[in-house]
Amino acid sequence: MYSSEFEEIVQKRRSVRIYDQDAPFDETAVKRSLDRAILSPNSSNMQLWEFYWVKKKEVREALASACLGQSAAKTANNLIVFVTRQDRWKEHAKWNLEGLNKQFEGKELTKRDKRALDYYGKLMPLVYRHDPFGVMTLLRRMIVFYQGLTKPFLRIINHGDQRVMTHKSCALAAQTFMLSMTAEGYDTCPMEGFDRKLVSKILNLPAAAEITMIVACGKGKEEGIYSARTRVPNEEVIVVV
Ligand SMILES: Cc1cc2nc3c(=O)[nH]c(=O)nc-3n(C[C@H](O)[C@H](O)[C@H](O)COP(=O)(O)O)c2cc1C
Repeated sequence: MYSSEFEEIVQKRRSVRIYDQDAPFDETAVKRSLDRAILSPNSSNMQLWEFYWVKKKEVREALASACLGQSAAKTANNLIVFVTRQDRWKEHAKWNLEGLNKQFEGKELTKRDKRALDYYGKLMPLVYRHDPFGVMTLLRRMIVFYQGLTKPFLRIINHGDQRVMTHKSCALAAQTFMLSMTAEGYDTCPMEGFDRKLVSKILNLPAAAEITMIVACGKGKEEGIYSARTRVPNEEVIVVV
């Protein structure tokens, strides 16, 4: 239904590394794009993310330096820092649980309803709880080992698995944001070339927060596209099974 419009957006989006700072820039397009990013699919609807919308010149300048002086960061009108907040799992599991309880108020609970309540009440703590001594990791490892012997089982065990989970969702939000900005007539550049310690300090991020990527945005200049768009042959990466 929207195939040709979507094709156009995907074809038009490029990583643009120089922005025209004299061109008009409508920040409401950023707001709309962030609102759309929030609607991105995310693991268990836990929404363990934050999006720092950096408009202030002095903060942008500090971030540009933390982005190793990359021109995309130096010339962008705004920067969006996509951050994971795994540490918020408890609040967000509770939020989901309360939402479900509200939905189910006065209703006789079906099996599916009970499963949904258990999902946030029991499974999420098991998946996300973390302790400095690794007790939960050991517990998960044992559960996964024994359960996995006889049936397919979700193999989320350690902090690395949890980090992958949160970064996946956050990266999807960044992609929604970038495609939306293209649809709004602007350009973006995702960046992982930054000093994460410095960025955390500039934004005063809590210790548990991790930066997925920083997205520069503005009205791109033609010379901001550094080279033709190339990809290895599709047959190499699309594996039909
Ligand atoms: C996670 C990620 C990190 C990236 N980091 C940088 C970066 O630090 N600096 C940069 O100029 N481009 C960066 N890029 C942009 C890629 O170089 C670019 O997407 C790729 O070359 C394909 O070009 P296209 O986006 O124009 O299709 C990054 C892209 C992604 C997805």
